[in-house]
Amino acid sequence: MFSSGHMIMTPRKVLALSPAHRMSEEEEEFSPSVLGTKEHWDAVYSRELKTFEDYGDEGEVWFGEGSVTRVVKWLNAQKLPLSSAVVDIGTGNGKLLVQLAKSGYSNLTGIDYCSGAIALAQSICDKEGVSQRVKLQVADFLGSFAPAEQYDVALDKGTFDAISLDPAGAKDKCLQYVQALRRVIRPDGIFIITSCNWTRDQLLQHFGNEFEVTDDLPTPTFSFGGRSGRTVTALVFRRRSCS
Ligand SMILES: C[S@@+](CC[C@H](N)C(=O)[O-])C[C@H]1O[C@@H](n2cnc3c(N)ncnc32)[C@H](O)[C@@H]1O
Repeated sequence: MFSSGHMIMTPRKVLALSPAHRMSEEEEEFSPSVLGTKEHWDAVYSRELKTFEDYGDEGEVWFGEGSVTRVVKWLNAQKLPLSSAVVDIGTGNGKLLVQLAKSGYSNLTGIDYCSGAIALAQSICDKEGVSQRVKLQVADFLGSFAPAEQYDVALDKGTFDAISLDPAGAKDKCLQYVQALRRVIRPDGIFIITSCNWTRDQLLQHFGNEFEVTDDLPTPTFSFGGRSGRTVTALVFRRRSCS
């Protein structure tokens, strides 16, 4: 199955299509949505786990297969040690980690607050023969997740998007996310985020104090009414050593 980033499109597109537009405080927030609730994701993964068990279907690839390849290719090009500690925040079915494991990375961790997602990710890792390289853990990134050591690399594909739609105080959750990220990534460590809700400038507003952007990964563009924009943003940040 394929999902091309459809959590919430309109506000982002409007901003992306208006170069002269300046964001106001209100426009930086989205309307709350069920997509920001654990109940929603529990229901999604309980359904996807059953579908995997019944038919072997591995479930959604958020933002499409290209979003996995893009991150894996960028990491491979950096020639990081294959033992680098990598965490995937809100790993879902874990398919990004499976591809990294197949590229040779051996110190991979995936966390998700849905036990169904972790059960599905474990089944897929077992099937793909990469379980030795991937540790999976049920944990709330904004709560219970307390790793013993900091990571060299943290990945997020769609999780910050979901968190920023949380009906129980999205603005606070976004701030908590940045604080949690600071705790789990080592100074100078890498953070790669793929988002369909936030533009490059908006992501810089969220993360720019603690992280500096080092790369903007090419993502598909669209044209409409003579203007163009991007459906997905994928940015590489480095944690500032003094943050
Ligand atoms: C849009 S899905 C993306 C899943 C996966 N990263 C992918 O690309 O297929 C968002 C994921 O974030 C997880 N999630 C949301 N909030 C979380 C939190 N506070 N802690 C851990 N996981 C969370 C959800 O359970 C879901 O798996």
